[in-house]
Amino acid sequence: MERPWHKSAIVYTVDVETFADGNGDGIGDFQGLAGKLDYLAGLNINCIWLQPFFPSPNRDHGYDIADYYTVDPRHGTLGDFVEFSQAARDRGIRVIADLVVNHTSIDHPWFQEARRDEKSKYRQYYVWSKDKPANADQGMVFPGKEKTTWTWDDCAKRYYYHRFYWHQPDLDTGNPAVRNEIDKIIKCWLQLGVSGFRVDALPFIITSKGPGKSGFGDCPEYLVAMRQCLSWHRGDAVFMGEANLPPEQVPMYFGEGDRVHVIFNFFVNQHFFLALARGDARPIVDAYAALPKIPEFCQWANFLRTHDELDLARLTDAERQEVFRAFGPEPNMQLYGRGIRRRLAPMLGNDRARIELAHSIMLTLPGTPVLRYGDEIGMGENLALEERDSIRTPMQWANTSNGGFSTAPAGRLVLPVIGGGEFGYEKVNVAAQQRDPESLLNWVEKMTRLRMRVPEFGAGSAAFLETSDPAVLAQCSTLGPSSVFAVHNLSARGVEVDVNLGRGVDGLFDLLTNREHEVRSPERHRFQLNPYGYLWLRSGGGNDT
Ligand code: NOJ
Ligand code: CA
Repeated sequence: MERPWHKSAIVYTVDVETFADGNGDGIGDFQGLAGKLDYLAGLNINCIWLQPFFPSPNRDHGYDIADYYTVDPRHGTLGDFVEFSQAARDRGIRVIADLVVNHTSIDHPWFQEARRDEKSKYRQYYVWSKDKPANADQGMVFPGKEKTTWTWDDCAKRYYYHRFYWHQPDLDTGNPAVRNEIDKIIKCWLQLGVSGFRVDALPFIITSKGPGKSGFGDCPEYLVAMRQCLSWHRGDAVFMGEANLPPEQVPMYFGEGDRVHVIFNFFVNQHFFLALARGDARPIVDAYAALPKIPEFCQWANFLRTHDELDLARLTDAERQEVFRAFGPEPNMQLYGRGIRRRLAPMLGNDRARIELAHSIMLTLPGTPVLRYGDEIGMGENLALEERDSIRTPMQWANTSNGGFSTAPAGRLVLPVIGGGEFGYEKVNVAAQQRDPESLLNWVEKMTRLRMRVPEFGAGSAAFLETSDPAVLAQCSTLGPSSVFAVHNLSARGVEVDVNLGRGVDGLFDLLTNREHEVRSPERHRFQLNPYGYLWLRSGGGNDT
């Protein structure tokens, strides 16, 4: 049976800037990243999502691009990129690049020419208005940081439109010339070997823009065209859309399988944290129930944390307050009125059992898991840093200066390494965890290895099962003739729970302990689970092959 690679992938998110500094200037680079590929291979991931690494004034960690066609010299050369991606390919690891085309940086030569010369073709690349539109104080993606979506440019003598920061003018993606540029960017990086793109701000790209326009995601035909460009040039390349959607908008983005391949599952992510906060599995089950069935070759990307705030905007006000109380009670932990700017481990009180539970759920939920650098060793956050920088501190490799990230003097680092205390590099680092068989890192490696051997979770069809205890999440994933089960206890108490496995299960093989479970009554099979305990099981009592 045809099984596209993105359904069996484990993705790992890297920000080149803060991962590993190869030349000792305090900034991460491709040389440093290439040197860590063996580490990543050991983690059993088979796809790296590279956050933006293009020339940028870096006012938004590279999501403000000044040139789409090369590598920021701070991170190396185009040659270093190619060398890295070939070394990744040699280890069976694909590379996905961030496609940030909703906006450019104000520093991009297109914008500079557009503002200077009204006759330039680049003028029409952006969205302008002589007068400040009436709704200019609405629609900011970073409320509290930005007060308007239309900023005055003294050179153009016009207002320009921007959904994100003031320094990120929106491209007019309705302009055919802009669409051609986007095609060219896609083709360029495909030619350089990437297996696809994480599409930044996708809903905003496919929206008609301009004063008086109020559509949202109202240009789906453009999504089809982008996809055609991608697929014509590389048949197995994928788009992973960054789109935080309410369930009713999902079908428009997947289409009939002719639009994006993968969508980040923000909807389930927020309900997952609600479920964790409550110690109750039902918000996860209900969230999946609310989502539409997706086309055969499409997929959800499941994650615990990203490089952004944990966005809780899709929850009700009361639900959001519950999650805030549980995981981000202090005002300084919250951001944009909707999210939490913390890493996973500190949010979960550095409780190993809970951290394992969270990872185990992410690895088994219907979809493709996406890990973020640092979470595999339980890194913490630095709330003294601004906005989302709190969770973007350098990777902690060893208990050596700068946590092994860089040999530069500490003052020259792109962001400070977390030192001291429970989450400091002295305690939390790769080298120490590699030597400790009981470490979180070794546990994550074991689970990702197992996950690779159980394709049913990613590529199969999944159903949630009836349980006698609402704290327990039980799921069956089926691929062809074989079925696997995942059972998770979200509560802090041990449970004995009856699960309706459905008919046809006469034995279960515990994939974590290698023990057989006899099944007398599949309709009421009893499991015992520790506080925050979890089980992965294969039906048939037979081989794990
Ligand atoms: C979404 C990215 O994840 C975020 O980090 C960035 O600030 C915005 N898009 C703007 O590109
Ligand atoms: Ca460097």
